[in-house]
Amino acid sequence: MSPSGAGVAAMRTCVKFCLLVLLSVTTSLSDRHPKRSTEDDANNFSVHVEKNGAYSLRVGNKTWLYSAPPFFNSDGVTYKENLKLKSIQTANGTDAFGKFEIFSFSYQAGVSEIGASIKTYEGHPFVLFSQVYLNGANNTRAANVNYAISGFPSFLVEDMETDAGVVGYLAYGGMMCGDTEKKMGIFSPDGFKITSGLAGGPVALFDGSGDTLVISPANRFMAASNWHSDNSEDGHLLQYGIMGGVTTVPANTVMEFIVYYSSGGINRAFEGWGSYLRQAYQRTDYYVRNDFTNNYLGYWTDNGAYYYYNTEQNKTYQQTMLDVKAYADQVNIPYRYWQYDSWWYYKGVGSGVKTWWARPDVFPDGFQYLYNKIGHLPATAHNRYWSSDTTYAKENGGKYNFVVGPMVSVPDDQSFWDDLFRNSSSWGLYTYEQDWLNKEFSGSEALLSDVDLGARWLNQMADGARKNNMSVQYCMANSRHIMQALENSVVTQARASDDYSPGSAQWKIGISSIFAYAMGIAPFKDDFWSTTVQPNNPYHDTEPHTELQLAASVLSTGPVAPSDMIGHTNVTLLMRCCNAEGLILKPSKPATAIDDQIYMKALSDRPGPDGEVWSTYSNVSGLMFGIIFVPEITGQHSITPHKAGFSQMTKTLMVYEQHTVTEMSAFAEESPLLISGCNTSRPCIYHATPVLKQNPTVVLLGELSKLVPVSPQRIISIDVGDDITMKLQGVPDESIDITFSVDSRLQTIGCAFGSSRMATLQLNARKCA
Ligand SMILES: *[C@@H]1O[C@H](CO)[C@@H](O)[C@H](O)[C@H]1NC(C)=O
Ligand SMILES: *[C@@H]1O[C@H](CO)[C@@H](O)[C@H](O)[C@H]1NC(C)=O
Ligand SMILES: *[C@@H]1O[C@H](CO)[C@@H](O)[C@H](O)[C@H]1NC(C)=O
Ligand SMILES: *[C@@H]1O[C@H](CO)[C@@H](O)[C@H](O)[C@H]1NC(C)=O
Ligand SMILES: *[C@@H]1O[C@H](CO)[C@@H](O)[C@H](O)[C@H]1NC(C)=O
Ligand SMILES: *[C@@H]1O[C@H](CO)[C@@H](O)[C@H](O)[C@H]1NC(C)=O
Ligand SMILES: *[C@@H]1O[C@H](CO)[C@@H](O)[C@H](O)[C@H]1NC(C)=O
Ligand SMILES: *[C@@H]1O[C@H](CO)[C@@H](O)[C@H](O)[C@H]1NC(C)=O
Ligand SMILES: *[C@@H]1O[C@H](CO)[C@@H](O)[C@H](O)[C@H]1NC(C)=O
Ligand SMILES: *[C@@H]1O[C@H](CO)[C@@H](O)[C@H](O)[C@H]1NC(C)=O
Repeated sequence: MSPSGAGVAAMRTCVKFCLLVLLSVTTSLSDRHPKRSTEDDANNFSVHVEKNGAYSLRVGNKTWLYSAPPFFNSDGVTYKENLKLKSIQTANGTDAFGKFEIFSFSYQAGVSEIGASIKTYEGHPFVLFSQVYLNGANNTRAANVNYAISGFPSFLVEDMETDAGVVGYLAYGGMMCGDTEKKMGIFSPDGFKITSGLAGGPVALFDGSGDTLVISPANRFMAASNWHSDNSEDGHLLQYGIMGGVTTVPANTVMEFIVYYSSGGINRAFEGWGSYLRQAYQRTDYYVRNDFTNNYLGYWTDNGAYYYYNTEQNKTYQQTMLDVKAYADQVNIPYRYWQYDSWWYYKGVGSGVKTWWARPDVFPDGFQYLYNKIGHLPATAHNRYWSSDTTYAKENGGKYNFVVGPMVSVPDDQSFWDDLFRNSSSWGLYTYEQDWLNKEFSGSEALLSDVDLGARWLNQMADGARKNNMSVQYCMANSRHIMQALENSVVTQARASDDYSPGSAQWKIGISSIFAYAMGIAPFKDDFWSTTVQPNNPYHDTEPHTELQLAASVLSTGPVAPSDMIGHTNVTLLMRCCNAEGLILKPSKPATAIDDQIYMKALSDRPGPDGEVWSTYSNVSGLMFGIIFVPEITGQHSITPHKAGFSQMTKTLMVYEQHTVTEMSAFAEESPLLISGCNTSRPCIYHATPVLKQNPTVVLLGELSKLVPVSPQRIISIDVGDDITMKLQGVPDESIDITFSVDSRLQTIGCAFGSSRMATLQLNARKCA
């Protein structure tokens, strides 16, 4: 079956710690402890390479993946059976990530000299694969752009079982952060059905015990593809290489791929994988944390919004936007920025953008006039693919280098982006929303055939934004675009599901948020209505689940984006998001679907929740306040802190549901929480809160009028000594109530903020000033 099966008498080289594997103690499934360290995981994950170039990946002593033969296209030929392995060499070395051991393969594919390697690091639970056309290659294009022109690594897709049971998968795919075509199922020739190629994404394999592998490109994200082939000739393979449309490979184009292992489950595996990649690319979270439009409430006009290609009767967009602003001021909704969707600029051939400037029929007095009138609110402004007749291209009389194609044009000029953003700062551009990323990419022959243009396009865009103190939101992004943001820290937010439409289930971003969070990007749910009925709306629809919409938005840590008709905002509901000036009170990380939700879906025989169960936490002074969000569940589900992803919470926990604050109970591995009675009309939010002191037992419930009652945006620090002292921040004239439970009795302390914007709460004295 497999080339590395036991019958093969070959040199079996242990890349990593084989002895340790053999000596490792076998524990029963139920004993498997979630908290193995990264080093433990590194010691337990190994690659085995044979003399003929075959390799396999093992967790403990179990092989999870067997290699399939590599292949490389050159001069119109696919070299596979006739690919010549010239040599294998091993070496040890040290780089920024520490000590490594490397296997280097040398192949000949016609005239093309090929290098490939497998590298493992001491203490790091991942394997890096690389492939390179050393002297380049011509005429490499595959029969289909969704194939690859090279394959290394390449894995067999076969029935696979570990001690814990069959192995399942989660494969991101499609657009919106891998959400729209994500797939889950059994990893087997019949069960493995993923979107691969241009719209492919990271793939995770898991057996439900915690053991998880994450496989993805590790560099040149715009040019790398996975290719799931399942034809009779090759068999069922998962291969990694250069995307299928590439025609010519320049010499020394190194492609890297990673397989990352964690024993801590799917969420942990993606966190570890993302953490390595973010470190490798020095992606900083500075921009995400300081992104104005991630942090404050804004008003939205995109698809699903009341005013999406829709104005007040007989009024221009200019007047309509000013009327929305006047309404918001009248009812005290602190919108801090405005989103302008695709209705405001000039369109050309194929409805692409011709000139990214406001049309006079939309804003008769110009965008700058509106910006002044609306109180200088920063803008999030939408853009789509550039049309073939875009006025910026030299070909069309403009000043800038574009690759003009019949469908779309691609800017290839740093000064274009620098100028576009500088010019746009005159009307307040703060977040550039690049939509239609998938169409711009797949619609451009230049982007599909070139190994560098895709990265250059996105890097120039981000660089222009960075120079102008702006951030970037990705929309309709394939996984490749999302991963390219590892090089672009100013990409702070990305849509994580399809467009909003009132009443739809596009709020289900719990799984795509795992990917976004790993990349350090805030996932965005898209806009929503805060009241059910909005008269004469263009969709002829209603939104029955307004609280769910708001909760999914706030818990995402991305933009919170109401899009109501004038006069139809539920201000009481909406203001549960924020402080009095629109600062979003949110958790410390995006809420993500718990592992059991995915196991349940992928591995049919596992007990998991039949529905959506996401978790997150707020971290204040190192104290962890857990949140379990249950927007939809059939029947009931029993969950422990570990299953909720709270294994790092070391304190004794209490738990309560937001609707029944007084019904608090202990929450521990031996005292699980029974989730039930949650539905989209009445989503449950359970709060797991640490016992701060004993005798009497004190727990902090926080600001119960908010969706996230304990958030770092409100509570700056908590000091637990003889007294409990908290530093809080707020807005001048804002008054809030902070609730504690002391021996199960609720105690509420009022805090009022003055010009200092700070207050100090002391529990013993019951005061806050
Ligand atoms: C491999 O693991 C299985 C189950 O965990 C165990 O029964 C077996 O003894 C192990 N084999 C070796 C060589 O360690
Ligand atoms: C290695 O992995 C196997 C399989 O998950 C597990 O049974 C074993 O306890 C692990 N060993 C260590 C040292 O983590
Ligand atoms: C690399 O180091 C490992 C152990 O640290 C050793 O077993 C191996 O022989 C070394 N390989 C080479 C090529 O030096
Ligand atoms: C590719 O084509 C170019 C131009 O004809 C040629 O110079 C180069 O040697 C070719 N590369 C290979 C690897 O054949
Ligand atoms: C809009 O214009 C039409 C035609 O001029 C007119 O009949 C209608 O009353 C106007 N509606 C409003 C709300 O002003
Ligand atoms: C920026 O504005 C200048 C001056 O009006 C104009 O010449 C240039 O074409 C604009 N560039 C872009 C990309 O908007
Ligand atoms: C960007 O922000 C920095 C710091 O606030 C400021 O010094 C700089 O002038 C700003 N640059 C632009 C182009 O606005
Ligand atoms: C507004 O939201 C609050 C809180 O969810 C709810 O109790 C109230 O019924 C809502 N009002 C309207 C008019 O929808
Ligand atoms: C929580 O915050 C503290 C600093 O206050 C930090 O040291 C710790 O790593 C954080 N923990 C998590 C899980 O984010
Ligand atoms: C949702 O749950 C609540 C509370 O359990 C229940 O009263 C209500 O009937 C449920 N609604 C639907 C539509 O199932």
